[in-house]
Amino acid sequence: MATLKSQKIKVPGAAEFLPAEHSLPVLQVAVQHCKGCDLYRNATQAVFGEADVSASGKIRMMIVGEQPGDREDREGHPFVGPAGKFLDRCLDEAGIVRKEVYVTNAVKHFKWEPRGKVRLHKKPNSREIFACSPWLRAEVDAVAPQLLVCLGATAAQSLLGAGFRVTKSHGQVQHAEGWPPILATAHPASILRARTEDDRHRQTAEFLEDLRAARSFLRKR
Ligand code: URA
Ligand code: SF4
Repeated sequence: MATLKSQKIKVPGAAEFLPAEHSLPVLQVAVQHCKGCDLYRNATQAVFGEADVSASGKIRMMIVGEQPGDREDREGHPFVGPAGKFLDRCLDEAGIVRKEVYVTNAVKHFKWEPRGKVRLHKKPNSREIFACSPWLRAEVDAVAPQLLVCLGATAAQSLLGAGFRVTKSHGQVQHAEGWPPILATAHPASILRARTEDDRHRQTAEFLEDLRAARSFLRKR
């Protein structure tokens, strides 16, 4: 039983569902049996992180999103829906090879509520993020990336603490004990939701600048 210190809440958490062997293929199978929080109940499947197999050994960057969306939940792969397509285009434009990036989420099951016929994305709460964190920890250990890129506040705060502000510190490399260097930026889904065209352009430009900062950080290493 893990305890979330800041809230003194007991959650079963994912720890007891982790296999003894922490290789990616073994983790990927095991996560389908996780009942570390309630989110597995209403989701189709767990969506684990992945990278192009042919690129293994070359993975230096790991991108961490929030949680799978509707498409990801049905297809079983991270970032395959609209936000993922947009992310792919931006990575390409920033000169980052998507195939050489390991892509995952802070939370592995899709959280949603019905709104008519659609399954509306619901933000995971801090208990669920904490419960799911052993999977992310295991992925980071297995992949050993040189840089973690967090998309949006959920991922960033899960690693850097609730006080971290993406709006203030995006694009700057952060150091948190026990983790590789971390760079946080906006979530592509939030850019797609921008209220005006101008906002979207501005946010996209900022996002690209952050991705380029991530790329140049890796180049210097
Ligand atoms: N948004 C995320 O945070 N992750 C996905 O996998 C898809 C959309
Ligand atoms: Fe387990 Fe994470 Fe799914 Fe919760 S969201 S059941 S902790 S894999």
